[in-house]
Amino acid sequence: MSKIICRDKIFVIETENTHYVIGIDNEGFNRHVYWGKKCDVNDYEIDYNHGENAHNTVLDEITQEYTVFGSTMYRECALKANFADGCREVDLKYTGYEQNGNTLSLNFSDTYYPLTVTLNYKAVDGLDIITRWTTVKNTGSESISFEKLFSAELTFPSKKPYRFKNTNGSWGGEFLETDTELKGGSLAFQSRGGVSGHNNSPSFIAYQNADEKVGDVYFASLAYSGNFKVSASRDLYNTTRVLLGLNDFDFEYLLKAGESFDTPKVFCGYTCGFGEMSRQMNKFVIDCIFPKPYNKTPLPVLYNSWEATYFDVNSENQCALAEKAAEIGVELFVMDDGWFGGRNDDNAGLGDWFVNKEKFPNGLSELIEKVNSLGMDFGLWVEPEMVNPDSDLYRAHPDWAYHYPHRTAHELRNQLVLNMTREDVQEYIFNLLDTLLTENNIKYFKWDMNRALSETGAENLEVPKMLWYLHTKAVYDIVDRLKAKHPGVTIESCCSGGGRSDLGALQHFDMFWTSDNTDGIDRMTIQKGCSLLRPTKAMRAWVTGIEGINKPCSLDFRFAVAMQGSLGVGGNLTKYSDEDLQICKKNIALYKEIRDIVQFGDLYRILDIEKDEVLLNQYVNEDKSKSVAFLLANGTRFYKKRMPICFDGLDENKRYRLTIQNNTYEKSGAYLMNVGIPLHIRGVDYNEIIILEEIK
Ligand code: GLA
Repeated sequence: MSKIICRDKIFVIETENTHYVIGIDNEGFNRHVYWGKKCDVNDYEIDYNHGENAHNTVLDEITQEYTVFGSTMYRECALKANFADGCREVDLKYTGYEQNGNTLSLNFSDTYYPLTVTLNYKAVDGLDIITRWTTVKNTGSESISFEKLFSAELTFPSKKPYRFKNTNGSWGGEFLETDTELKGGSLAFQSRGGVSGHNNSPSFIAYQNADEKVGDVYFASLAYSGNFKVSASRDLYNTTRVLLGLNDFDFEYLLKAGESFDTPKVFCGYTCGFGEMSRQMNKFVIDCIFPKPYNKTPLPVLYNSWEATYFDVNSENQCALAEKAAEIGVELFVMDDGWFGGRNDDNAGLGDWFVNKEKFPNGLSELIEKVNSLGMDFGLWVEPEMVNPDSDLYRAHPDWAYHYPHRTAHELRNQLVLNMTREDVQEYIFNLLDTLLTENNIKYFKWDMNRALSETGAENLEVPKMLWYLHTKAVYDIVDRLKAKHPGVTIESCCSGGGRSDLGALQHFDMFWTSDNTDGIDRMTIQKGCSLLRPTKAMRAWVTGIEGINKPCSLDFRFAVAMQGSLGVGGNLTKYSDEDLQICKKNIALYKEIRDIVQFGDLYRILDIEKDEVLLNQYVNEDKSKSVAFLLANGTRFYKKRMPICFDGLDENKRYRLTIQNNTYEKSGAYLMNVGIPLHIRGVDYNEIIILEEIK
């Protein structure tokens, strides 16, 4: 059970295994006291042992929960405000706290100006994850403008350097892990293109002496899909701290008289090892982040037409694909790009969301009825935030795209970005999607976003720099409105693959498209990086016709990779041989049996394809009665992969039955985790899906 203990201006947030401790010092400053393994709550106290010289000040040295710009504080701060009379400093003093169950709010007011700042903390039962966010309120009669408005500042206890994991991805190569030691100075992970993007993740993992099972691991993820910044530093006193929040790049937020603003949330935790971190985050997202009521509903097996027909979709070829998809056991048929306006390639059509009559003479209903009659739901690709200059929409409303009057608006993928901060644009987008859902039996949208923002003029706004934030907010709002009006509809977030797959997106969207790279070998690495702080269920994974660009691997192998997420199929099934279709059918049927364990179970990353040449990922259900393990290798070297395979996450005292390499074993959990099963793992295309079942 989590609880909050308030003792004489010391606040302890107690989670399952950790304490997060905040204090208010004699001068009324917020102080960070401690975060980590539980200690005696009565021992926590504020450290007043600080020195000062003309360059290094007390304010600069102390660890704070939320540092504001002003006075003798020189390091990167969480908040910087400008008041109407030109004062650019904030001076906060503690005014009191509120406790509501497991939520703690610490209130601070500026000593002169009408600004209050509330630091909010929320703990959940059963996990070591705390939600943090900050609320600012303008209690005066004139606007206050913010240059920086981060969600949270986090400080770690050890004075030794921490290593930081993040990702350095790109289109087709998302979630590639980076690992950097921060000995001094600072390190930033960020996005500036209007989406959380492919490059860095809006999160951090800071650790010392850690691997999957041991070590101190601090982590946090920001729930925001726009420009973010995660700024880590190690100062001259050897304190390592991280700020997370809205990027202060080209940033301004105007808080008018009487208004308040909640920053995006940060979900942070401390665990022993990376494995526990991922399992806790997975559970947390399922229970607390995914949109309800479908948070605990398994995702259907999906078919997507993109790699089969690209822009050449038509009623005939989609019906033919649908027949094959139904035959192999698909539950949701999604038609991708190309069905609307003058969309025959990526040069035209975005914005004209009416059915292309040459491709679908009888509208969408013919295809949808066919899909439904085959027992599948129907889904559709859309890219609502975009417009091609070659479209009726752009010809009618050139001013709807972001632009500056005297600058050329850059086209990327031949398209411009709609100014989502305009109410008329928001209404247009909501209405078009609402009409599609009202007039057709559509159960699913794949909402794409295929370029970064540029020439971000927004003349409609009093403070144009607010567009970065308002664009993201508009996307969230439209998704929420659509779902409220059309219960039962789920929406996938796609951004040229995994460019908008953050936990902010997952408060509104139900899942994300992980990567356009469906190569079986590359996907093992992409999915590993993705699994660190993102939930398995949300990770869409298709088996397509690509057999590996330079790295051929079998259909079974590619299924064994894709079945470690939410399975989809995307190849041109009309060209598959009967034998291939049977392989698809067999794997999809197996996936349906194990998907509850994969999508909701605990993941143990036992062997890593990059480090060990062999991948062993195991998923275990809640009562540890059933588990599924994926064992894959592609080109082991030196004949050395003669090894016992040890499992994880099982109940030591339960007995399990499993079959590997055609041999059936009956062993205790303790044996399987400590002794293991001796195997020879060889070849370029080694793949086994191992089911472990409790013998009752
Ligand atoms: C993006 C997506 C693809 C596909 C195309 C369609 O690239 O990532 O999956 O939907 O757009 O144009």
